[in-house]
Amino acid sequence: MKQAKITAYAKINLVLDVLRKREDGYHEVSMVMQAIDLADTIVLEEAPRNWLITDSKYIPPNMNNLAMKAVTLMQNHFKQVPPLQVTLQKRIPVAAGLAGGSTDCAAVLLGINRMYGLGLSQTELERLGAELGSDVPFCIGGPTALATGRGEKIEPLPPCPPLFFVLVKPSFGVSTPKVYGNLRLDQIRRHPDVQACIDGLHKGNALQILDAMGNLLEYSTFQLQPNVKKLKHSMAEAGCAHVLMSGSGPTVFAAFTEQQQAQQYYKTIKPVYPGAILSRTVNKTMLEERVELYGNE
Ligand code: C5P
Repeated sequence: MKQAKITAYAKINLVLDVLRKREDGYHEVSMVMQAIDLADTIVLEEAPRNWLITDSKYIPPNMNNLAMKAVTLMQNHFKQVPPLQVTLQKRIPVAAGLAGGSTDCAAVLLGINRMYGLGLSQTELERLGAELGSDVPFCIGGPTALATGRGEKIEPLPPCPPLFFVLVKPSFGVSTPKVYGNLRLDQIRRHPDVQACIDGLHKGNALQILDAMGNLLEYSTFQLQPNVKKLKHSMAEAGCAHVLMSGSGPTVFAAFTEQQQAQQYYKTIKPVYPGAILSRTVNKTMLEERVELYGNE
C-alpha cells in the first residue's frame, strides 16, 4: 500500500509591504517569506474514500479545509489518484499568520505528486497551489523567497543565514480578509524597506536582514486587535530589538542571530506566555527531504 509522510513547514514574513488594492479585490504585495522548522506532519494513504483524521479541534473534519481541497484538486486533474486518507498532526497554530493551512495544502500536492509519479515540476505545482490560496506557492517552493502579485508569484532569494525565533500566538485568531479589508493605504506614510532585506540576504548579513524587518499589515491588525500591539511591545520590552507580527497576524515573533540568545529569551518569556514556541530557519536540504515515501515497490 502506497503511503507518504510529509513535513509541512510554517512560514514567517521577514518583510511584508502592500502596494495597492487591485480590481479583483486582492492586494498587490511585496514580501520576503522564510520557512521555519515549526511544522505539521501529514500522512497520505489509500482508503475507500477521502477522509481526514486530525488531532486538532480547530480543523473541520470534512472536505472544507485546504488539505482536503488539495486532494480533490489533484483527483480532478489526475484520474490515477485514488481516494486518500489524510492524517494531519497539527503543530502550527491555526489562523495565526504562519501559513498553517497553506503549508498543509502544499504538502498534500507535493505528496500526491511523488506517490503517483505525476512528474509535475515545481512551477506546475505552484500554479495548481495558487488556485487554492495565495501563500500555497511559497509553501511548495521556499525556503527563502520574494513573493509578489497577490503573494503567489515566487522568486527564490539567496539562502537566509541561520536565524532563531520565539513565536507567541495570542489565544484568538484573526481573519485575513478582515485585516486586508480594514487597511487604509492612503493613510500610511511609511512602508517597510523590502529591498534592504533582499540586500541583506544577498550579502548574507543576518543583522541587516533583522534591521529591515517590517510588516505593513500591523497598522490594520493592531487597530482591529489592540492586544496584538500590546503583545509586540511586551515582547520587545522582554529584551529583543527585532519583534514583528507575521503575515496578517496575530502571531508575533522575536528574531535573533544567535541560538543562545533565542533560548535565553524563550526561558524568560515562557512563564508569561506558556504557548511560546522556539523555532529557526529551514534550509534547502530540509525542504528537499520533506517527503518520505513508503510501500511503493
Ligand atoms: O488567497 P487567500 O485565500 O489566502 O486570501 C484570503 C483573502 O485575503 C482574500 O480573499 C482577500 O480578501 C485577502 N487577500 C488580499 N490580498 C492578498 C492576499 C489575500 O486582499 N494579496
